[in-house]
Amino acid sequence: YKNIVILISGSGSNMAAIVRAAERRHWADRYGARVVAVISNKAEAGGLGVAREHHIPTAVLDHKGFASREAFDAALMTEIDRHDPALVVLAGFMRILTPGFVQHYEGRLINIHPSLLPAFTGLNTHQRAIDMGCRFAGATVHRVTSELDHGDILDQAVVPVLPDDTAKTLAERVLTQEHIMYPRAVEKLLA
Ligand code: GAR
Repeated sequence: YKNIVILISGSGSNMAAIVRAAERRHWADRYGARVVAVISNKAEAGGLGVAREHHIPTAVLDHKGFASREAFDAALMTEIDRHDPALVVLAGFMRILTPGFVQHYEGRLINIHPSLLPAFTGLNTHQRAIDMGCRFAGATVHRVTSELDHGDILDQAVVPVLPDDTAKTLAERVLTQEHIMYPRAVEKLLA
């Protein structure tokens, strides 16, 4: 089996989209792939309940319980590696990862970022795009390197920025596209 481990911090809607695609599109039969674990750094992440509804094992590893980023990442690696992953998918996982972590999963670690990279790395991407007067915004699926929000681009989705957009309305328009793009990008890697 090609085991997929998904890391989340929040509502986990991208994780849910991937889990649903795996079920609907029969990833187990077609690619020998399955989502084997969802891991969150926040106990209150809404996505944990969604994962449980799909009978996917979940784990919580609270970064606040660790003295350093390195110590947290080491524990996270141990938890992930229990599942022998072929692919580690960051889906709204809001932690910066250490070079050691990134190196360990080189070639099997991907992320989705809510901007058209290389524009707007980091946080508050939608407000920054609106403030800059961008006519278009979007999201990017990319391989993860130790430089934040860099790494080869696997796919992008583009949406218009409308005159009355707020960060919230733009985020919703982008997120709808993320839910289509991210499962497709994962499936492409599996195929
Ligand atoms: C998504 O928009 C994702 O692109 C973004 O957080 C949201 C998570 O939503 N990721 C980042 O900002 C990464 N720095 P979700 O938990 O519902 O998938």
